[in-house]
Amino acid sequence: DAVIFSMIQPTGVIHLGNFLGAINTWKQINDKKRPDQKIIYGIADLHALTIPKKDYSSQLKTNRMEAIATLLSCGINPQVSTINFQSMVGGYHTELFWYLSCLAPLGYLNRMTQWKDKKSGDQTKERLGLFAYPVLQAADIMIYKGTHVPVGDDQSQHLELTRYLSERFNAMYNVDYFPSAKTLYSKSKKIASLSNPSKKMSKSSEDRLSMIYVTDSPESIREKIKKAKTDSISDTFYFDPVERPGVSNLLEIVSGFQQKTMKEVEKDVSQLHDYRSLKEYVSDVIIESLAPIRSNYTKYTNDKSYLESVIQQGYESSQEIAHKNLTDIKKIIGLSNDF
Ligand code: TYM
Repeated sequence: DAVIFSMIQPTGVIHLGNFLGAINTWKQINDKKRPDQKIIYGIADLHALTIPKKDYSSQLKTNRMEAIATLLSCGINPQVSTINFQSMVGGYHTELFWYLSCLAPLGYLNRMTQWKDKKSGDQTKERLGLFAYPVLQAADIMIYKGTHVPVGDDQSQHLELTRYLSERFNAMYNVDYFPSAKTLYSKSKKIASLSNPSKKMSKSSEDRLSMIYVTDSPESIREKIKKAKTDSISDTFYFDPVERPGVSNLLEIVSGFQQKTMKEVEKDVSQLHDYRSLKEYVSDVIIESLAPIRSNYTKYTNDKSYLESVIQQGYESSQEIAHKNLTDIKKIIGLSNDF
């Protein structure tokens, strides 16, 4: 049977990259769930600690709550998909993390681009948690024997490591236990920053104009799109990510929201002949698509007891799977007492 699994870090409200690259696909999978599929979506609150911040606990608490509310607002239905907090089933995740750590080569982890981007460069201050981040991510997927993982482009290397560790484990213990998890990309797997389209839209950016949050007001969306970097190549608009990264990113956003091919989007914008009209068109599409999410978000953040019931239910159903799988894993490794 298929186990669809993915996670998002609780860094507050999500932006268009998270939505179009991942959460929108999560919702489509949720809406088309078949009886032979199990779906688990999690909030990676243990990963959120890999870059330690002082006095962070109340912020983390708020971010966790907002993350759950955001997933529900985006249309993930807890009756269909399990929604959990990584830390609540954390014992299972971190125990498997340990077993995998014992198989994960340092050289492989050293090549991880996210590690290279995020490490400070000062050996005496580098943290083990940040270095080991991708191994915990592999454990997240493997503890549920995940078969399909819907993510954006920036997670592809972590998924390769997951497949590598599954193979290593199977070979080491001569079993066919862990499946090889497939990466599922959405149509818009890479949304760029609005202010610097050569970079990805990223939560860690300091520039508020670089990203649009799914709960942004219509005015704020218009402002950010108006200031988005484009070009002055031609006032006919077509997709060319190399020569026209800014314009192409806007078309990509439209294509992601409307679930249309780039050809169709190009046809729709063919009547527009100046940058201002293009930007108005793009703003309209975003504002209209996000309106229901924005109003749902207000509703869910005002209903804490509902959020708590979703979390409790998600915990119980994921705990059951994680417990069963960890028992099997320990047996395979030789850590069971049935002498
Ligand atoms: P995170 O929280 O950074 O991002 C959540 C999802 O959003 C996607 N994404 C993007 N997609 C397209 N364009 C962008 N600009 C963009 N920015 C973000 C990400 O690819 C991701 O799918 N390490 C993960 C969390 C994690 C995880 C896991 C994921 C922990 N354990 C197990 C899958 C399976 C992360 O930090 O995602």
